[in-house]
This record gives sequence, C-alpha cells and structure tokens, in this order.
Amino acid sequence: MEGKGINRESGATEIFRFIKENHDCPGKNDIRDLYDTITPSYDKLYKSGYKDVIGVDVSPKSLDIAEQKGVYKKLICDEILPKGMPFKTDEFDVVICSGSIAPGHISPECFSEWTRIVKPGGFVVIVLRRCYVELQKDREYLHSAKLGESFQAEIRNLEKSKRWEVVLRQTFPGYIYEDGLLNDGIAVACRVLNHS
Ligand SMILES: C[S@@+](CC[C@H](N)C(=O)[O-])C[C@H]1O[C@@H](n2cnc3c(N)ncnc32)[C@H](O)[C@@H]1O
Repeated sequence: MEGKGINRESGATEIFRFIKENHDCPGKNDIRDLYDTITPSYDKLYKSGYKDVIGVDVSPKSLDIAEQKGVYKKLICDEILPKGMPFKTDEFDVVICSGSIAPGHISPECFSEWTRIVKPGGFVVIVLRRCYVELQKDREYLHSAKLGESFQAEIRNLEKSKRWEVVLRQTFPGYIYEDGLLNDGIAVACRVLNHS
C-alpha cells in the first residue's frame, strides 16, 4: 500500500494506522494504548509499507536528521505557509504534521492548504503539545492564547465549510518530557472531503 506524508517523526504513525483500520469508528478505541506500548516513528510507517514519504522542513539541519532515517523518498527544504505549497492538488494520501504546530512555528492557518494537497478520502493528521493550545497547570508559560484560538478556529472553519471532518481528537499522556514533567499531546485526525 502506498502512502505519502510530510514532516518528520513521532506520534502520527500509530494514529495513521489507527485511522486506516478504523475508518468507520472514529475515536472508538483508546489510542493511548498505542502510545503507551509502541514508540511511534516514521521508521515503522516505512516498514509497514508506506514507502512514498516526502518530508518538508524549513531547516536544513532538521532535514539532515530526517535524511539519516533513510525512510524519505524526497526531502524538501521549504517554509510551510498558508498558501502555495509546491504540490499539486490531491497529490497526497496523507499529510502528517507532528511536533511543528507551536508558537513561532507552523501556523494552523496552513490546515486549509493541506486539505488542497490531500485527495478526498485522505487524511490530515496533526500531533502537537497540548499546553501550547490549552491552558494547563504548571505549563501556563508555554501556552499561547493566539495559537490556541487559531488552532480551534481553523479546525472548526474547515468542518463548517465541509473541507474535512474530524474523525479523531485525542489527548494522550507522555508526549514530551521537559523540565521534569511529562507533557500531554493532542492528536487530531481529519478526513478530507470532496473539494472539487
Ligand atoms: C520541534 S521540531 C519537531 C520536529 C519533528 N517533527 C519531531 O517531532 O521531532 C519543529 C520543526 O518544525 C520546523 N518548522 C517550524 N516552522 C516551520 C515552517 N513554517 N515550515 C517548515 N518547517 C517548519 C522546524 O525547522 C523544526 O524542524
């Protein structure tokens, strides 16, 4: 089976598998089990047959690290912006963005562009640190109200305009260990709807 994705690393792989296996029962299973028992990585995605993976990152240094994984068909150095990604409409089965929606990083305003490059029926999978978009105790200093609002608004707007449907929205523990604390992650998976 073929799959394409952008971005590097982590949580999204198992979520991706979950979606593929659970098209009709979004959110039914406890995805935390997957996170607790398996360390997700793009290496696993590759081993399970997804060999057509393209990575995009603005940082050459990050791309060097990605290249060492040996799982990318192509790596592109580019800034991910709300418009004008160098890809055709409907080019991808899946876009995965893991760990890069953050203050000063990729903006949720890019979600709309991802629905353009993913074919109808494909998925956009986003994994990010919870405290960036939700106020959490002892993590207030990492929270960005602006990012939180934009994150919720972009998801909602694309739902309202029927560009995608959210099939999974899950908080999971242990995403990132930092400053002596384990940080929750949020995983969101959206099925892209017909946009012709
Ligand atoms: C915190 S790292 C996470 C990397 C990786 N996804 C992971 O989970 O380990 C964030 C990455 O996003 C990239 N990045 C941030 N803003 C970007 C943008 N607008 N376009 C492309 N890449 C961006 C950075 O260069 C960096 O490699």
